[in-house]
Amino acid sequence: MQSCFWGLFNLSKVLCEYETPMRLTVVSDDMQSIVTPSIPEKSLLIGPISVLPHEMPHIETQSIDISLLHISADGLKKVAKQIIHEIDSANDERMVAYRGNDRWIRTIKDAPIKEMNHLESEWLRPGGTYLITGGLGGIGLTIAKHLAELGAGHLVLLGRRSLPERSSWESWLAQHADNDATSQRIQKVQAIEDCGAKVISIAANVVDHESMAQAVSDATAKCGSIHGVIHAAGTMDDQLIMLKSRASAEAVIDAKVKGALILDDIFSAQPLDFFIVFSSIASYLGLPGQIDYTAANAFLDTFAIERSQRANGKSLVINWNAWRDIGMVVNGMEVNGQQENIEAGASGKEIYRVAHPALDQCIDLSDHLLQQHKQQHLFSTHFSINKHWLLSEHQTKTGVALIPGTGIVELMRAAYTEHCTRASEDHNRKAVTAIALTDIQFLSAFQLENEDGQHKDRDLYIRVEGDEQQANLTLYSESDEMPHAIGQARVLNAPPSLQANSDISGIQNRCTKVLETDGKYLAQSFMDFGPRWGCVDSIQYGDAESLLAIELPESFISDLEDYQIHPSLLDIAIGGSQVLINGFDKYQDFYVPIAYEQFNFFDAMPKRFFSHVRYDSSAPEGLARFDASLMDEAGKIFAEIKGFTMKQVEADFASSSTSTFTTSTSTTNTETKKESHSSADNLAAILREAISPEEGIEAFDRVMA
Ligand SMILES: NC(=O)c1ccc[n+]([C@@H]2O[C@H](COP(=O)([O-])OP(=O)(O)OC[C@H]3O[C@@H](n4cnc5c(N)ncnc54)[C@H](OP(=O)(O)O)[C@@H]3O)[C@@H](O)[C@H]2O)c1
Repeated sequence: MQSCFWGLFNLSKVLCEYETPMRLTVVSDDMQSIVTPSIPEKSLLIGPISVLPHEMPHIETQSIDISLLHISADGLKKVAKQIIHEIDSANDERMVAYRGNDRWIRTIKDAPIKEMNHLESEWLRPGGTYLITGGLGGIGLTIAKHLAELGAGHLVLLGRRSLPERSSWESWLAQHADNDATSQRIQKVQAIEDCGAKVISIAANVVDHESMAQAVSDATAKCGSIHGVIHAAGTMDDQLIMLKSRASAEAVIDAKVKGALILDDIFSAQPLDFFIVFSSIASYLGLPGQIDYTAANAFLDTFAIERSQRANGKSLVINWNAWRDIGMVVNGMEVNGQQENIEAGASGKEIYRVAHPALDQCIDLSDHLLQQHKQQHLFSTHFSINKHWLLSEHQTKTGVALIPGTGIVELMRAAYTEHCTRASEDHNRKAVTAIALTDIQFLSAFQLENEDGQHKDRDLYIRVEGDEQQANLTLYSESDEMPHAIGQARVLNAPPSLQANSDISGIQNRCTKVLETDGKYLAQSFMDFGPRWGCVDSIQYGDAESLLAIELPESFISDLEDYQIHPSLLDIAIGGSQVLINGFDKYQDFYVPIAYEQFNFFDAMPKRFFSHVRYDSSAPEGLARFDASLMDEAGKIFAEIKGFTMKQVEADFASSSTSTFTTSTSTTNTETKKESHSSADNLAAILREAISPEEGIEAFDRVMA
């Protein structure tokens, strides 16, 4: 392995640093299986030979394979001349082999395979037991179901992660979202068992001989002798040679190469009807970014031929084209796509339902394999005007539906609280209530595009990363490089003394002027508020301070079970104090929120409360800054706000779909974006040619026949 792959891997990395056009000739002995048996490990050379020119077009490569078996001194001289002649003539063929006087080149030929009746198979034993490594993966589960339909008795599906205990399947399905990877696997296993086969899911790493031997022995004890093996375990970790680390390449290669060798060893003394390895057309094409994957699959190609010459049962390799809808290529596409939310389902991360009505689901993105791992959850919501009052009740007079800043604050609070509960080791722990949200910045509005009077649905993501001491929150839609809002959060273990009773009557005595309202609504001319915004009881104001009495209309009381910071109430509780801004004209001046310096939240908002707002007149022109205390009717403070800042904008600011609140939008790494687009484009091109699962099954049947 050292001389076959790593030497050439290291050399390739070095050659990538040079821009001079060059040709690299790799001379091997007995790599190609022609006349004499080959040594499969040598095929790993094919990885660098095939991939290097795709990544570095100025580097040409050629492989010359010779045989040194039983060679005489004269034979050796002849081979030396053949090699020199081959290098001098600079032919186009990338794969050349010499055997005696013959020069061989690699070509691909059609091999017609007869069509099969889908449910007829002579190669499968009725009631037989079959082991599939990578059996809980996309193709593994599809093939397993097919074997069950054909009459297999037991299917042993092996991966590094097994399924949860059978007894917990029902509760797992209830707690997790439909697109949770484990939920989908459970449902597929149930469908396999509906066909009459029994499924055993075993956790073992194919690169670990001891645990594989144990897994096979356990499976045999439960289901009797194994009659056939399909080695489908594999991973992909696409990266250009220049960036590829040895550890990453090793993981990709080992699952296929060591996995096949270990299985071959474990079953060496046991008769098998078949031993099939799943390879890829990558071993012929040598796709950019896949030096390791190409090498590993090239090994499998040769391994199957070599095994067929020495071991019992049918040895086969299937070089799959990309599969549509399931499996690692689709998953790779999703990982590289812009929408991280799908990524988790694909990569086996858990996806939970979230009880909050404005949060659909949550994916645990923490890397639990790392010792010093950072807790990370990604929340997502598919926002629709028909489903979410946060949008339908908060529209501009020009028909733009957008989530209010206070809605963003509540989403941050709810997501962070859920994050802390999920991240806690103690799963029975009560949800945290008192938290501090700090440095919240609103960078651009999250609004629904309005096309021909129809609001288009849109996904919003909230990434929470960190712990109870400190976490970062990012709200974004199309790209996390252009967030709508960012902020930080921490748990307040000992809420400060601010919670003491406030002197409401003293404030009332200072705030003697009464602001005229539009019934229960704030009088203004920019927004079309829905009924939840009809919550003003009274607004009194004085010199740079105001007192607002707010009450949620009776029909929406149940909102408070989920919305602990109720967005419409908070919106009015502070926004209703704009009268304090110097020279403010409620019919002319339109202010939007741009930041909260600190939002300390101690307890859930009651249905009726007071908001005591203080205006900070030192803010620069065009900005308005406030502090506020929110308290219940007894004067107990449940939230304290510092540095809530608003900015004056043009009245039609929200009618452009890219309305931003501040000029300090986060930096966009265009280079990274360009790269991830092109890699997604590559995968998209591969997927256009992909086969459907039905076509995959048909091909499998025909190959097996
Ligand atoms: N999908 C395609 O379009 C396509 C195209 C060409 C070839 N193929 C080949 O077909 C095979 C199946 O692909 P797929 O699309 O079904 O991929 P997949 O959905 O990613 O499934 C692969 C499975 O292999 C398991 N696995 C990976 N490393 C392992 C290890 N060290 N030990 C035990 N299990 C391991 C994984 O489970 P854990 O993570 O739990 O271990 C995973 O469930 C692969 O060999 C792939 O190279 C696929």
